[in-house]
Amino acid sequence: MDKFVIEGGKILNGSITASGAKNSVLPILAASIMTDSKSVIHGVPKLQDVYTMVKILEYLGAKVVFKNNTIEIDPSTIARYDAPYEFVKTMRASISLLGPMVARAGKARFSLPGGCVIGPRPIDLHIKGLQKLGVDIKIEDGFIVADAKNGLKGNYIFLAGAFGSSVLATANVMCVAALSKGETVIEFAACEPEITDLANFLVKMGAKITGIGSPCIIINGVKKLKGVEHKIIPDRIETGTFLLAGAITGGKVTVEKCQPMHLGAFIERLTETGVQVKSGKNYITVSGIPRWKPVDVVTFAYPGFPTDLQAQMMAFLSLADGVSVITEKVFPERFIHAGELNRLGANIQLDGSKAIVKGVEKLLGAKVMASDLRASAALVLAGLVAEGRTEVSRIYHLFRGYEKFEEKLRALGASIKREKDTLQ
Ligand code: EPZ
Repeated sequence: MDKFVIEGGKILNGSITASGAKNSVLPILAASIMTDSKSVIHGVPKLQDVYTMVKILEYLGAKVVFKNNTIEIDPSTIARYDAPYEFVKTMRASISLLGPMVARAGKARFSLPGGCVIGPRPIDLHIKGLQKLGVDIKIEDGFIVADAKNGLKGNYIFLAGAFGSSVLATANVMCVAALSKGETVIEFAACEPEITDLANFLVKMGAKITGIGSPCIIINGVKKLKGVEHKIIPDRIETGTFLLAGAITGGKVTVEKCQPMHLGAFIERLTETGVQVKSGKNYITVSGIPRWKPVDVVTFAYPGFPTDLQAQMMAFLSLADGVSVITEKVFPERFIHAGELNRLGANIQLDGSKAIVKGVEKLLGAKVMASDLRASAALVLAGLVAEGRTEVSRIYHLFRGYEKFEEKLRALGASIKREKDTLQ
């Protein structure tokens, strides 16, 4: 396995370009199988999760060509409607294929995804939503067995659980509703920009969807969809991660070709720390300061502060001039990065779904271990500013969601290199 070796203390300056959004391309690739005609998707980031999704699509029988950030998919040869555990356990987001499979063929046999380090990842809302559309669902030997033998019929669906809306359950239900008979109303739908991107893709395919981007999405089913050309929106989580790389090192960093309006809550909290944030039509510039103020952060579904930027913000706040309280309302257990940040000299105490982050004067380089995608990014951010050398092991987590991560950091002046991790 590989590790990152980072020499801390370099001030990051300059600009990078945002890649396409991982959490948009995955459900859109899944939705592209809901027709027999070809789709062409541009702005696709070269990420491990995208390669995994391509592998699953090819396993199902689709023809997929992925080059120069463009994917061409021909779903006409798909002949399987099952997703084995081997695929699903490596990427929970493969669940976004469940709806499109049922919409395309009226059936699916899907391994239950299980949990992951950020918490149990239930799929009760996905199941409830599909059942409301006429899908018969059984759980057998660790598999979801879905069968729409009586056809798909629109319905009113309140699609939220104890933790609010669900991004991929909204994606699955919207896909099935697009090819169901009659009208479907999804109440308390996820409003994430990636869901808006998926809805826009479905509308291009011929779906009839209104209320896009709102918590109430109305879909009038159609008989058929067609393959289309589409460009993926920029990745707001990658954008926020690089802005924090500039802020934490006290530098001036611009992320170009991003969508500032997708980062309202993040920009508001970052500005509250005293860091200067300037946004234009498709760029955001952050100008770091020597010491910043603590702020409280609560994660919520969009448009709230994104849970996927919580770990990175925690790394930044570990050096604030005071105490910040971070509350996780989406994944209450998503704090695995706190222990590793404390190894770098941070002072973070956990109390259930809250993390009390007492700002320290400095962080000291050490060996730390990545555990999930966004926690890994937080450890790299801390390593950029920690005194001396930081080694982050198990960086394969990072390549799931960040395209050219170390190249982009080096372009901003970071001292970061990838080495073989002989001890792992
Ligand atoms: C998506 O996951 C993202 N992944 C996650 O990003 C992101 O953290 C999450 O949304 C929240 O924004 C992709 O889009 C591929 P949810 P998803 O269903 O859809 C509960 C990353 O780092 N819930 O919106 O699986 C759930 O436990 C990844 O890029 C149910 O109770 O998340 C959580 O508390 C990590 N029942 C809340 O809803 C369900 O059936 C939100 O989860 C489904 C979810």
